[in-house]
Amino acid sequence: LLKGRLIGSGSYAPPNTVSNLELEKVVETSDEWITTRTGIKNRHVLASGAGLSDIAAEAGRRAIQAAGVDASDIDLVILASSSPDDLFGDATTIAAAVGNQGLVAFDLTAACSGFLFATVTASQFLTTGTYKRALVLGADALSRWVEWDDRNTCILFGDGAGAVVIEACEEADSGILGFALHSDGGGHESLKLGYKGTKETPLGGGKSVTTGQYAAISMNGREVYKFATREVPAVLLEALDNAGLGVEDVDFLLLHQANIRIMEAVAQRLGMSMDKVITNLSEYGNTSAASIPLALDEAVRSGKVKKGDVIACAGFGAGLSWGAAILKW
Ligand code: ACO
Repeated sequence: LLKGRLIGSGSYAPPNTVSNLELEKVVETSDEWITTRTGIKNRHVLASGAGLSDIAAEAGRRAIQAAGVDASDIDLVILASSSPDDLFGDATTIAAAVGNQGLVAFDLTAACSGFLFATVTASQFLTTGTYKRALVLGADALSRWVEWDDRNTCILFGDGAGAVVIEACEEADSGILGFALHSDGGGHESLKLGYKGTKETPLGGGKSVTTGQYAAISMNGREVYKFATREVPAVLLEALDNAGLGVEDVDFLLLHQANIRIMEAVAQRLGMSMDKVITNLSEYGNTSAASIPLALDEAVRSGKVKKGDVIACAGFGAGLSWGAAILKW
């Protein structure tokens, strides 16, 4: 088997922002409540007319540039998203937008775990030698899918995109050292963005067809919180074990950016100090599949994460789905 080497990262969030103070004017909430319960201060949202594929393509371009390769050198694009512009998929549009139409591109949905699931999926194609270079993107625009008068959800989510380029090689000095992925459909009702049939059209002969639309996000916050604090430490330990590493080998902990209290609880469970936790949650809120690559890219570009650092990443979310990957940068 070959190895998958991480050769570049990129990210992009739309310039439009919504602060807690602005939300106070929309729903009955307060900056104090949101800050203490979640750690979120701000979120970025798509401007009207802009699409998910636009922000994802920008993150992709930046990752390709950072990797120092040409778009034509990429032969696989995987987009992790739950909120594409087109339900048939955005990956092909993004591939064309970054300048390569002739490759294999597809979408993958695993909610907030999506980027980790996509990274692991891409690495399977690379290690077997099927493809040489993959652009893996995590992008979501959940601002389009919350009820802006539901204070339980509208305070949490923001839009953004992040990406990495992974290259197959004989000997890798970076990449996925170990991973573990899980799902449990039994918890599906805790977090949903579900289709609802609303209009029935009779076809005659007693037959009819139903058409409809997607309802806004519904969430049992306490259930999701309990699930995350229970499963994330366990899956991180499992992935570390698969990598032949222990908590002491980890330079940084990078969790899906959903709630600072979840990050604190997980760090405490693993015996890690908050200095090792990478977070940009206060600025972006929960950007779903984008949160890990967006925070990773910012940490790399700011110089916080350096070549050779070991980053324990974990995602969790709807499905339910959760997973961890131990990355060496
Ligand atoms: N402002 C003010 N008060 C609020 C708000 C708000 N925005 N939202 C809820 N409240 C009220 C509630 O109505 C409740 O009032 P009550 O006690 O009178 O009934 C009170 O605050 C406490 O509500 P809880 O839901 O118990 O608050 P909790 O401390 O659990 O925090 C939160 C809620 C922040 C949602 C938390 O449960 C959480 O972060 N859960 C995880 C959610 C998550 O991460 N989801 C995304 C997963 S990723 C993906 O796949 C999309």
